[in-house]
Amino acid sequence: MADDTEDGEVELEARLAEQDTFEPSDAFVEQANVSDEGIYEEFEDPEAWERAADLLDWDEAYDQVLDESDAPFYEWFTDGKLNASYNCVDRHVENGRKNQAAIRWEGELGETKTYTYLDLYNDVNEFAAALRDLGVGEDDVVTMYMPMVPELPIAMLACARIGAPHSVVFAGFSADALATRMNAAESEYLVTCDGYYRRGDALNHKEKADEGLRGVEHDVETVVVDRLGDELKVFLGEHAHDYGELVDAHAGERVDPVPRDAEDMLFLMYTSGTTGEPKGVKHTTGGYLSYVSWTSHAVLDIKPEDTYWCSADIGWITGHSYIVYGPLALGTTTLMYEGTPDYPDRDRIWEMVDRYQVDQFYTAPTAIRAFMKWGTKFPERHDLSSLRLLGTVGEPINPRAWKWYYKHIGDEECPVVDTWWQTETGGMMVTTLPGIGEMKPGSAGPPLPGISAEVVDVSGEPVGAGEAGYLTVNRPWPGMLRTLYNNDERFVSEYWSEYSDEESNRWVYFPEDGAKLDEDGYITVLGRVDDVLNVSGHRLGTMEIESAIVGVPGVAEAAVVGGHHDVKGEAVYAYVITEDGYDPNDELRGKIIEGVEDAIGPIARPEAVIFTPELPKTRSGKIMRRLLEDIANGDELGDTSTLRNPDVVEDIASRVGGD
Ligand code: WT7
Repeated sequence: MADDTEDGEVELEARLAEQDTFEPSDAFVEQANVSDEGIYEEFEDPEAWERAADLLDWDEAYDQVLDESDAPFYEWFTDGKLNASYNCVDRHVENGRKNQAAIRWEGELGETKTYTYLDLYNDVNEFAAALRDLGVGEDDVVTMYMPMVPELPIAMLACARIGAPHSVVFAGFSADALATRMNAAESEYLVTCDGYYRRGDALNHKEKADEGLRGVEHDVETVVVDRLGDELKVFLGEHAHDYGELVDAHAGERVDPVPRDAEDMLFLMYTSGTTGEPKGVKHTTGGYLSYVSWTSHAVLDIKPEDTYWCSADIGWITGHSYIVYGPLALGTTTLMYEGTPDYPDRDRIWEMVDRYQVDQFYTAPTAIRAFMKWGTKFPERHDLSSLRLLGTVGEPINPRAWKWYYKHIGDEECPVVDTWWQTETGGMMVTTLPGIGEMKPGSAGPPLPGISAEVVDVSGEPVGAGEAGYLTVNRPWPGMLRTLYNNDERFVSEYWSEYSDEESNRWVYFPEDGAKLDEDGYITVLGRVDDVLNVSGHRLGTMEIESAIVGVPGVAEAAVVGGHHDVKGEAVYAYVITEDGYDPNDELRGKIIEGVEDAIGPIARPEAVIFTPELPKTRSGKIMRRLLEDIANGDELGDTSTLRNPDVVEDIASRVGGD
């Protein structure tokens, strides 16, 4: 780092740069939840997943750990009954831990709130009573469109209590995105809020929610949380209710947790795929909750007395699994932060780690790259010695960023877990176990115990050490998605068609990631092999962005690809052909950007819009995205000989250069 000028520092940097394996410290291993290597062997038997189920309290015991009779529609912990809200809240109150902090929340402007397990119990019960009163019944999907306010996990747990699956839509998504998801889930209930703060400014969120509701084809009852008080007064329409008034009207009420079948849906989460239509990933009560509890215990090393912080947004799966369900099921203190990491200054995160004495910190490589860019002086202002473990998720982490995190945040004392997983997998799949495994920066590690992940070639044969191929998973696991909502067919075709052999009843899950295997069985995930981009750890479908762009008047055709970006990992590059009579000018460029923000949200905003008279196409008319990627990255252009229009490539490249 530029500001590390002392000789000792330089030497240390040089040593770190060369070191490619790291061992967890003895101090960490001694206290780790899981430190016996025998665990890998133990999990070769699927019955071992009982260990995960045993972390929960069941109302009725299950008959069978795994039912494979209708693969790939696997079932876990069959006929068992439990309630997720009871497991995340009530049982900790009953176990004499009512005064322990469950959620510590901090707003961007510095306001703080602490919810003990008893507070959470009261609030969840009251809101569950309110939801019932609004008409929410078991299996009704309740949509939540909220930023990082404490009412979000409260509402999720209230839904879980009454057996109503939730569908959380990331608050940064657009009104259109909300409408699409509510229509797809036929969701008749929405919990949202008036607004929130971003970099000190109050944003009106209700306006966006209302606009979304105008696109919903059926009636919706809406509950609005008042986050901004006098700062923003919103008008509640006919079918809208004030959250505060509702819970006041149900003060002190109790709602018995509904015993749910292990296979009953806990929630839906929409995610992007290859086609324009988002996929409604279905997660269950028994399998999902067992899985996130187990991985929180084994990988994040969470203990009830810890203060644990995952800096993701609850609007994504990371927040569901590792801010809300996993940590609360284990009865720990989970920290929730509303704002951005650089407000009011670039040491906000480290200041909070110090003040809350955070034990584990879990974030994304894009954040680590930003911290690196900002420099070591920000973490150095604070005492980070409370940290025991660091984690990363969402995209590949380059060894340099890994080492920076290990040294400047973890002081070379904390193991770093690089956890590969997806919305669909429910929880972590490939990572070292922090109390056991040697760490290799840049490589996620071996599959977790019981996870049979394999890197295969195009024909499905396992690759050898040192080779690259496609990541696959050839045994089921409790946290797996059960189907795509209302679309079993797409579930099978999206995930189980590539490498499965239906005739021999051999089912292989295909996550659409490329990967490389090393001689120790460690897996380095290389990134998506489908038309999905990963921008700052957020998953975006190129088709979704393209269809937003061609919806803009004046656009004839569009192709979207990902280009390298230092901080975001990938950035959106849009190549656009205009219609006759439209000028490819800045005004149109502005409209295109706006069109993308309206259809999806600011996260999908193109880094560059490149106008071109033609797109490179094969003779069969397929757009050659690889070439467009090369152009975006300024790389040497790949083979153009199969193109119908080879000249167009140089022409586009010159436009990017001169843009
Ligand atoms: C995709 C899933 C898992 C929660 C956040 C993203 C990429 C995820 C890693 C990692 C390399 C990773 C993959 C995956 N990814 N974690 N540790 N190393 N790549 O969930 O939105 O469902 O995206 O994120 O490409 O397929 P998601």
